[in-house]
Amino acid sequence: MYEMKPEFFTGIELVDTEHARLFELANEAYELMQDDFTPDKYDYILSILNSLNDYAKQHFKDEEAYMESIQYKRLFTQKIEHQAFISKLEEFDLESIDENQEQAILSILTFLNDWLVQHILEKDLLIGK
Ligand SMILES: [Fe+2]
Repeated sequence: MYEMKPEFFTGIELVDTEHARLFELANEAYELMQDDFTPDKYDYILSILNSLNDYAKQHFKDEEAYMESIQYKRLFTQKIEHQAFISKLEEFDLESIDENQEQAILSILTFLNDWLVQHILEKDLLIGK
């Protein structure tokens, strides 16, 4: 299970609330992986990917607006990483997801896990400092 432990909090309320939503979506993917009673998970996987896409667009917009408001000096690096996140989401290929659903869920989880650690914990935390 994914849990937003204290070290993940930036202290910026909107950013933290939105990050908590990402933990929820990671949990959804985790539960889907553990679920042995749903033989066809395709629609659920698509729904998670769509939610991630909506989430990313709104959250990055809000986070970038906040960084602009404080004239944050690492805004450019942040924008590049945010764009990379969205591109990576777009790379998930619907046909191969359907053919190999368990692998797809695992890829989504690995991707989110890396993001939580390498982006939120390392980069976003600096915004609050
Ligand atoms: Fe960020």
